[in-house]
Amino acid sequence: MYVCLCRGITDQDIKDAVANGAESYREIRDLLDLGTCCGRCAPEARAIISDELSDLAARLSYAA
Ligand code: FES
Repeated sequence: MYVCLCRGITDQDIKDAVANGAESYREIRDLLDLGTCCGRCAPEARAIISDELSDLAARLSYAA
């Protein structure tokens, strides 16, 4: 699913960035050029990043 139509960035692109170590909206914005045109995708992108970071934290705590 496209999250950022201006830049052609999907939810999977964002999830991959988190899986590869990105830890914040700012970091992913700089990495993918996400949200740098109209900015309408920012709330959705932030929600996806927040969910992914929560999932990652949960997985890490189970692994510990
Ligand atoms: S939809 Fe992402 S910058 Fe416009």
